[in-house]
Amino acid sequence: MAAPSKTRAKLDKNWKQNRDPVTKWVLRLAAVFVFVATCSWLDTIKHQWYVFDPTTIHELAQAAIAASPNSTQGMIDHIVANLTDTYPSSQIAINTDKSEWVFNNAGGAMGAMYIIHASVTEYLIIFGTPLGTEGHTGLHTADDYFNILHGEQWAFAPGALEMERYTPGMVHYLPRGTAKQYKMHEGCFALEYARGWIPLMLPFGLADTLTSTLDVPTFYNTAKITGREMIRNLLTGKI
Ligand SMILES: *[C@@H]1O[C@H](CO)[C@@H](O)[C@H](O)[C@H]1NC(C)=O
Ligand SMILES: *[C@@H]1O[C@H](CO)[C@@H](O)[C@H](O)[C@H]1NC(C)=O
Repeated sequence: MAAPSKTRAKLDKNWKQNRDPVTKWVLRLAAVFVFVATCSWLDTIKHQWYVFDPTTIHELAQAAIAASPNSTQGMIDHIVANLTDTYPSSQIAINTDKSEWVFNNAGGAMGAMYIIHASVTEYLIIFGTPLGTEGHTGLHTADDYFNILHGEQWAFAPGALEMERYTPGMVHYLPRGTAKQYKMHEGCFALEYARGWIPLMLPFGLADTLTSTLDVPTFYNTAKITGREMIRNLLTGKI
């Protein structure tokens, strides 16, 4: 009984080996073409999955500052209460556990973040540090809107001889595919909204942890929270 299947396996192997190289390359190129075409197509339709928008998020950050000018915690409470009142849980999943902070080391900078929302095409986090930090923004596949709540963020791109300065109520917009050096000279906290392809940003967000801090619990918690929120959103149909 074993003999015929052995023969067939041998024949299959011979066929694969003998397939002419031109056919092999045509098939490979076709696969690459289909992959690139699919990605380009998804990129043109991704906006239909956005729930938040940069203008509303900016207004919300400004309203939070106005409602609680002397307390960053008060601003965060205001933001989360507004989001849960505005967006039904059937539309988008929001993480209301405001104690769920994790360290974030990326691009040489260090701070902590609380992930309010994470899905395939959007994320919304509180990021900052009371100490100050400095580093590379990362080169991302998403547009990034950094709404300052407390403190200041400074930034510059090569060619600029003067720094950009962002204060509470301002938004630092970093278009996808661009990068800057940034500094939170002293304590600074911001409401960061990113829209685009979020999973492709994760390697930057975790690289410093894997190559420098080796903070395994942070790595585990970041992956756990991000994965959990992305899945919660996918289950409600939010991509
Ligand atoms: C949420 O905040 C926005 C911006 O400040 C505001 O226009 C809206 O009325 C708020 N919604 C709720 C339900 O509080
Ligand atoms: C915030 O702090 C300033 C200066 O200390 C004070 O004048 C103001 O009344 C405070 N505002 C609130 C809402 O507590």
